[in-house]
Amino acid sequence: MHKPDLCVAKNREKVKINYVNLDLDIKPVFKGKKYFLRTYGCQMNVHDSEEIRYYLEQLGYSHSDVLEDADIVVLNTCAIRENAKDKVFGYLGRCKHLKKTKKDLIICLCGCLTEQPSEIEAIMNKHKYIDIVIGTHNLSDLPKLIVDANGKQNIEVYSNSDKVTENIKYSRDSKISAWINIQLGCDKFCTYCIVPYTRGRERSRKMENILKEVQELKNAGYKEITLLGQNVNAYGKDLDLGYDFATLLEETAKIGIPRIRFVTSHPWNFTDKMIDVIAKYPNIMPYVHLPIQSGSDAILKKMNRRYTVEEYKQLFDTIKEKVPGVSITTDIIVGFPNETKDDFERTLDIVNYCKFDGAFTFIFSPRVGTAAALMEDKITLEEKEERLHILNELVNKYSLENNKKYEGKVVEVLVTGPSDKGEDKVCGYTDTMKLVNIIGSKDLIGKIVKVKITEAKSFSLDGGVVSD
Ligand code: 5AD
Ligand code: SF4
Repeated sequence: MHKPDLCVAKNREKVKINYVNLDLDIKPVFKGKKYFLRTYGCQMNVHDSEEIRYYLEQLGYSHSDVLEDADIVVLNTCAIRENAKDKVFGYLGRCKHLKKTKKDLIICLCGCLTEQPSEIEAIMNKHKYIDIVIGTHNLSDLPKLIVDANGKQNIEVYSNSDKVTENIKYSRDSKISAWINIQLGCDKFCTYCIVPYTRGRERSRKMENILKEVQELKNAGYKEITLLGQNVNAYGKDLDLGYDFATLLEETAKIGIPRIRFVTSHPWNFTDKMIDVIAKYPNIMPYVHLPIQSGSDAILKKMNRRYTVEEYKQLFDTIKEKVPGVSITTDIIVGFPNETKDDFERTLDIVNYCKFDGAFTFIFSPRVGTAAALMEDKITLEEKEERLHILNELVNKYSLENNKKYEGKVVEVLVTGPSDKGEDKVCGYTDTMKLVNIIGSKDLIGKIVKVKITEAKSFSLDGGVVSD
């Protein structure tokens, strides 16, 4: 059994990357049995679940949407905020109940929650019905742990990893749009954030392996890829091989997949070279997710974000100027410890300045092990909720205003699936990442079509297909 070190939060040294080439031989020993997989959190987890699903299917399990029908339940967890954690433990209650009548049920926990020592303690003491706990660095051990499951709790979590695993296989969610990990972990240590502890030091995959994956996805007919990392624009800094994110983006664009996206960008590492590459290649989508987190320099400093509001504004303006029609979204935290009314007003100022296409907004949630969790905080939850409400009103106003500009225009949409707005509709995304509900048949799925926008709402657009 490997438990994460309790002092993991202090461990900040750079790692020498150890590249491991995966070559697993998985036998379908569970043929006829069913799996239930639930994913919480960010795109990293969504992509990790595609790896988990590959292992489950290789073991012979078939998919079930119904928890009660499952022989194995896998919860891929998130630890970014307390409510993400609460959701997991709430769902575990249902699993525990099911196990009372289904003794052979295997319950498995993966994802960021398993990398928190305090949660491991709780799992060992209070959640003994969980069979397997596996960390974020050793997912490829999952098939073996499942085969070896024997009714005793098995915890295999490594708190730190120097590993980058290559040749991972995925059972992907989509045949149209695919995720590609380009970098694992994060070295930024924003004081509120648990990710550097749950995902480890920043490690870049080698460019040749990423480009090979892009080429394979293109050959398989994929229309879109998204390059994934906590700070994609810090890509390559740890490798010293003479290339950076701009190089990777450019080489990816040359392969000729129709749509290329990337998330998430940290303002600190965003270079002019990157902006030039985005502007140069029509298959790099004019969309940037650029978290600002706060509009107050004092709070940004306490957050260890490494930029000032002025620097963010300059970067924002340069991207807008050099990439025509670009849409920019952001993340904002309200109620960081002792955020004053004035600090909050500054956040409203930056939203008024940037008029973001969209923003994910959060109330600060203290995470055990992070620096901000130890900071004094006199602001009440009511005050924080009120600030969030005010911020959301403003953010939504600008989302709608930006979307309104699309009314009457013809835009290209990659149709990704059926729409939940009606049987006669499908949905997809513009190059600028606007969700569009389109009247049309399912035959459109997987195609890039021209759509005339008829109505704009805060979070989506409506439209109809037009011929060339
Ligand atoms: N509390 C609230 N929001 C957080 N985020 C990260 N950590 C926390 C936290 N402790 C937000 C940030 C980040 C996004 C993914 O989640 O805005 O960009
Ligand atoms: Fe967390 Fe900051 Fe790293 Fe983003 S850049 S994952 S917010 S530590």
